Amino acid sequence: MGGLMAIEQSIDQALARTIGAGGFPEVAIEAGLRLVENALTRLREDDGSGRLPLLHMPRASDDLGAIRAAAARLSCEATDVVFLGTGGSSLGGQTLAQLRDYAVPGAGRFAENPRVHFLDNLDPATFERVLQRLPLATSRFVAVSKSGGTGETLMQAIAVLSALDRAGLRPRAGELILGLSEPRKKAGKNGSKNGLRDLLEPEGVPFLDHHTGIGGRYSVLTNVGLLPAAVLGLEIEAVRAGAADAYAPVRAGRPAAEIPAALGAAVAVAAALEGKTIAVLMAYADRLERFTRWWVQLWAESLGKDGKGSQPVAAIGPVDQHSQMQLYLAGPNDKVFTVLTVGSAGHGPLIDPDLAARAGEPGFAGKRIGDLVAAQGRATADTLARNNRATRRLHVERLDERALGELLMHFMLETILTGYALGVDPFDQPAVEEGKVLAKQYLAEGRG
Ligand code: PA5
Repeated sequence: MGGLMAIEQSIDQALARTIGAGGFPEVAIEAGLRLVENALTRLREDDGSGRLPLLHMPRASDDLGAIRAAAARLSCEATDVVFLGTGGSSLGGQTLAQLRDYAVPGAGRFAENPRVHFLDNLDPATFERVLQRLPLATSRFVAVSKSGGTGETLMQAIAVLSALDRAGLRPRAGELILGLSEPRKKAGKNGSKNGLRDLLEPEGVPFLDHHTGIGGRYSVLTNVGLLPAAVLGLEIEAVRAGAADAYAPVRAGRPAAEIPAALGAAVAVAAALEGKTIAVLMAYADRLERFTRWWVQLWAESLGKDGKGSQPVAAIGPVDQHSQMQLYLAGPNDKVFTVLTVGSAGHGPLIDPDLAARAGEPGFAGKRIGDLVAAQGRATADTLARNNRATRRLHVERLDERALGELLMHFMLETILTGYALGVDPFDQPAVEEGKVLAKQYLAEGRG
């Protein structure tokens, strides 16, 4: 489908138009829209001044050839490609990768020929097991870190190098490993320090440059997200085209109420004004499971500042109807819901009428599994709204590269606009540094 119609957003209960009572008072939404209108002005200034390179990414294409070439080199005669890195250096790639494969949520491995793995969580047992099982001579490793100084990624890269050494493969490190990190800074407090480059460049490992003006959790449209996507054979230019679709109404100067991402931000601001402290994203597709986790990081790390922000919760339908729905419907009315559905009707195994009757469900006869999922997504959004829960629906009829690109950009814009409207900087994460410093101190002192 593609284009702007790929996302159909209706914010029924939130706007209190489609369904009358409950949800947000219209006045809160109007206040949200006013604040977001100012945020939009600032965003457009960012675009004009070039302050936010992310906004130019949707229409950039000069880097795609290099990404495809790197992907081809990685895939050549490889059985496995392993992406090392954490947080924003991994989740965007995982999100796109899940489009390729109906991977079991959280399984962390996608596709065949080559198999693609993401090792984002540092767990000694997992890492040891993976290193033991991988055919090292035919595996490729991509170490991704914008700063080059993230402890988890450095430990992973060191462990890989040592494993190659033990296997007699260290002389091939330059062929088996690729780095992706910021270019060395010429001056500044840290001088030219980049731990990852310092570690790997002496081994002959080549590096791709991480965009210096785009932070980890906003990097999915750069080589950080598009490299794994290209390894998996996804149409990376379509991802960018979808992102451009989401950004088009902003560029066209449309008012906030006519821009899906701005409307979403207005809902989030209204939620903050109304004291709703939890934001739930419930997606009805396994292929969007990583997307919900990507969004959790984006939302939490971008907005949780100065006592502001809301707790993001990732949910998947229909399975979480059997886990969280009771609380959502009858617990505290402190949440705003986004129910994200895809066009699943008409897809999946056909249900035999005789067997359906025997199971006591004659209504299932002749239906497909996707028909039930579609009905469930609709029923969940309707039930939430009927129970006065602030509910927004997003629907993507065909989940492909373009639609996912549009969703990714939609949520990045929504997050930035919400941050601007709430008066927080959506691009930094000062609070997490304290724990990182302390962990390195404990490690040095042997206090595990
Ligand atoms: O979004 C962010 O900025 C963070 O989640 C980072 O991506 C994460 O901490 C990893 O940082 P780096 O890419 O510098 O290793």
